[in-house]
This record gives sequence, C-alpha cells and structure tokens, in this order.
Amino acid sequence: MGPVIRLAILISGRGSNMHALLDACAAPLYPADAAVVISDRAGAGGLRFARERGVETVVVERGGYADREAFDAALDAAIRRAGADLVCLAGFMRLLGGAFVARWRDRLVNIHPSLLPAFRGLNTHARALAAGARFAGCTVHFVREKMDTGPIIVQAVVPVHADDDEESLALRVLAQEHGIYPDAVRWIAEGRVRVAGERALVDRAEAPWGAFINPAQ
Ligand code: GRF
Repeated sequence: MGPVIRLAILISGRGSNMHALLDACAAPLYPADAAVVISDRAGAGGLRFARERGVETVVVERGGYADREAFDAALDAAIRRAGADLVCLAGFMRLLGGAFVARWRDRLVNIHPSLLPAFRGLNTHARALAAGARFAGCTVHFVREKMDTGPIIVQAVVPVHADDDEESLALRVLAQEHGIYPDAVRWIAEGRVRVAGERALVDRAEAPWGAFINPAQ
C-alpha cells in the first residue's frame, strides 16, 4: 500500500458524512487518516462524535473574523497545522473564497445531495420532488469557486418514489452519500483520480451497463 493521506474534514452540523469517512479511516488498509475535524459552529453535533473517536477538533467561527478572507485564512492555517493533504467538505455550510479554493485546487472535495449540475444550492430534495424528477442522487466533486461546481468524481443515483417526501428521499440519498464519499477519497488517496480539462478521470473504474428507468415498465 502507498502512503496514507491525511484528511481535514469540514462540517457545520450533524456530520453523518464525516462519520462515514471516520469509519472508513478506521478500517484496515484504508489509505487515509483523519487529521482534523473543523467546524464553523461550536454546536455542530458531529464535533462530539469526532472527539469520542479521538480525532482532533477545531472550531473556527465566522463571527470571530473581520471578513471572509480572514476566516478562510484561519481555516487554511488550521488545516495546515494538522498536516492535512486533502480537505473534505461534509455538510460545511459556508462558501469558501477564491484564494482558499485556488490554494487547495484538486485537493478540496465536496459532497452534494443532487445529481449535479442539477439542483445546485440548498433544498435539493424538495426541488427535485417539485420538478417531478424520477431520479435523484448525490455527487462527490472537486470544488471550484462557484457553488457546487467542479469536476465530478462519482455520482450515485436513486429512484424517486411516487409517495416520497423530502425526508424519505433525503434518507435514500444519504445512504448513498455514505458509500460514495469514502470511495472517492480512497481513489484520490490511491492516486487514481486526475483532472483533465474540467473533468475528473478515475483510473480502473468501470461504468455500470444498462439504463435505469423509472417508472419501470
Ligand atoms: C449532506 O446531505 C451533504 O450532501 C450536504 O449536506 C448534508 C450534510 O449532512 N452537503 P451530514 O452533516 O453529513 O449528516
């Protein structure tokens, strides 16, 4: 196995994706370790779980800084202090500025609960339901400055059921988030992901065959 990469996981809330990443990191042979969990909210539920797992936690609150640049610089400093190689946004509810994004280019990933480029931003499940979409899903992507853009590494698709509400759809998607995020981080750690143009290419990855049709015939 190659060297193990170190993750900085940024959260704002319950941290279920962080949890999935920490579980993966704890598994034998997984090629990444958690260096630090950083939250912009002292009350984020995920912080407690990270501490219980013995992972270093840092709180960097926006209110403590004069402007976004200063806040981003404090985040950057905390990430560097921890010696992280890859920054994983996991329900981190702040938009990062251009300087930060440029500094961590192709070493900064996000998970988003939609099939990008559809439904960037918030309330993705409510919007997918309102649009009558037959499929929903989630995306892990490298981060660019514009919100929820950047080279797509992996997506998972789930059907929308006729009787879904926001909560039932969110749960179905979330289960997939917890699978694809650790996978994407593994591929990056294994050096299998490169960005060409603005597309991410994953070595030794196969696309599934066939079509997904909903409603089924
Ligand atoms: C997830 O749905 C993630 O896709 C989005 O924010 C939510 C965070 O949930 N970016 P959690 O804090 O990881 O449980």
